[in-house]
Amino acid sequence: MNHDVWSAVSADINARRNLNLRELFAHDPDRARRFTTEAAGWTLDYSKNLITPDLMKSLVTLAKASDLKRWIDALFSGEAINATENRSVLHTALRNLSTNPVFVNGNDVMPDIREVLGKMAAFSELVRKGKWLGHTGKRIKSIVNIGIGGSDLGPAMAYQALKPYAKSSLKLYFVSNVDATHLAETLKKVKAGQTLFVVVSKTFTTQETMTNAENARAWLIGKLGREAVARHFVAVSTNAEAVEAFGIDPANMFGFWDWVGGRYSLTSAVGLSLMMAIGAKNFTKLLKGYYKMDRHFSTVPFDRNLPVIMALLGILYSNGYGAESYAVLPYDQYLARFPAYLQQLDMESNGKSVDRDGRRVTSATGPIVWGEPGTNGQHAFYQLIHQGTRLIPCDFIGFCKSHNPIGDHHDKLMANCFAQTEALAFGKTAAECRAEGVPEELVPHKTFEGNHPTNTLLADKLTPETFGALVALYEHKVFVQGIIWNIFSFDQWGVELGKVLASKVLAELSAKDTPPLKHDSSTNALITRYREARA
Ligand code: F6P
Repeated sequence: MNHDVWSAVSADINARRNLNLRELFAHDPDRARRFTTEAAGWTLDYSKNLITPDLMKSLVTLAKASDLKRWIDALFSGEAINATENRSVLHTALRNLSTNPVFVNGNDVMPDIREVLGKMAAFSELVRKGKWLGHTGKRIKSIVNIGIGGSDLGPAMAYQALKPYAKSSLKLYFVSNVDATHLAETLKKVKAGQTLFVVVSKTFTTQETMTNAENARAWLIGKLGREAVARHFVAVSTNAEAVEAFGIDPANMFGFWDWVGGRYSLTSAVGLSLMMAIGAKNFTKLLKGYYKMDRHFSTVPFDRNLPVIMALLGILYSNGYGAESYAVLPYDQYLARFPAYLQQLDMESNGKSVDRDGRRVTSATGPIVWGEPGTNGQHAFYQLIHQGTRLIPCDFIGFCKSHNPIGDHHDKLMANCFAQTEALAFGKTAAECRAEGVPEELVPHKTFEGNHPTNTLLADKLTPETFGALVALYEHKVFVQGIIWNIFSFDQWGVELGKVLASKVLAELSAKDTPPLKHDSSTNALITRYREARA
């Protein structure tokens, strides 16, 4: 973070410590309009935040001082901004619906992207129309996506989000956990002759994915014989050699590139199973939504730029108020997995404590992301948000129209959404409690301090397009924060140590003879206890 600028911004924040949302709204009838902005089908109302116009201007200086515009250009133009892996970061090229080329090392990557999208579309149509037949001549009815992290969360979350657009005769399943239960319970639901396994792994070496893929293959061979593999397994990967070594025909491999980060890969071939479910046309609409948000992000001034505004508000609370987390609260059951998806997107990107010069950061970086769909969360953890001791900024996400217009469900759902942001912002004073006749001893318990900040994101309807724009919005928000914090958002070295140690421990757990254990006393004891129980 640029310390001189942050000192000035931080002084501005501190000078406004006593901002009170009741007063701010009372004094400015235009506040909601002033702090509402729109892009790609989304309206962001950020008026219920602890901000004034001046404070927003001050926060924008932070973005400018971080050279954000130059970084955005670098992102979109394929500069190798993933410096620790010496890679470009070009998920935006995947949904570049313009005719503009995008260069990596002097080569336009757009023809390859279009070719893979075309291959995905052709294959998806074959499967959807029942023309891609299984080994025994039957049409495919179940698709099992085997992947983990970015090779799972994106398509799994999006499949759930876009269920109303999915072909009902085709069921998608997602197997990610190396816990055999995940695979076993899924295999109970499908028939070998009508199942297509899509093995998704950028590296094609990930332990969990390869273990699941190998055992899925063994299951299939057990049911239909070795020759069946070719009709029942396809791969999505950057590693053609490993795909072939696994036994998947390279013709049935859908490629992508090292400049697509796992958690940013949904619009690459990683979206293949999603495309099979919703069809190529809807997938293109999804890309259009992403593209619209990309255009907005890369062209609109910071003070009207949704990802930039949301990033700055996040920094206000993380760095200005010491908030440790933020909650994402979709008022839409179809977005139930969206918080889980955002956990990887945000926490794997910005969970860093070293800056771009390799020095220990001096201010907080990526927050903890969590959330559940409304209204379920209201009956679980909202108590803490309303009356607990921690500051938890929240993003409320909702739609004006439902895909399931049954009775008054939707009005009730959205009434709760809007009411929660009102209650969080304005609370209920002790005087109001007393005026309602609340007994004096209960007044402290029934008082709501309010002043809890929220954003509300509202769109007409959950469609492939609005959904794509929503995901791109958060991708760019995370990017902006990484730039301002001066950290690298596109590597994930923090996941490596555990992987290396696990392979050592694995050898010790499965060794025939008691292995000499050289860990700490706790790890040694756990391994010993496990081995004894398994003996
Ligand atoms: O968890 C680390 C990670 O590398 C993620 O970044 C990635 O999405 C996931 O593992 C899966 O990796 P792959 O697609 O190579 O199997």
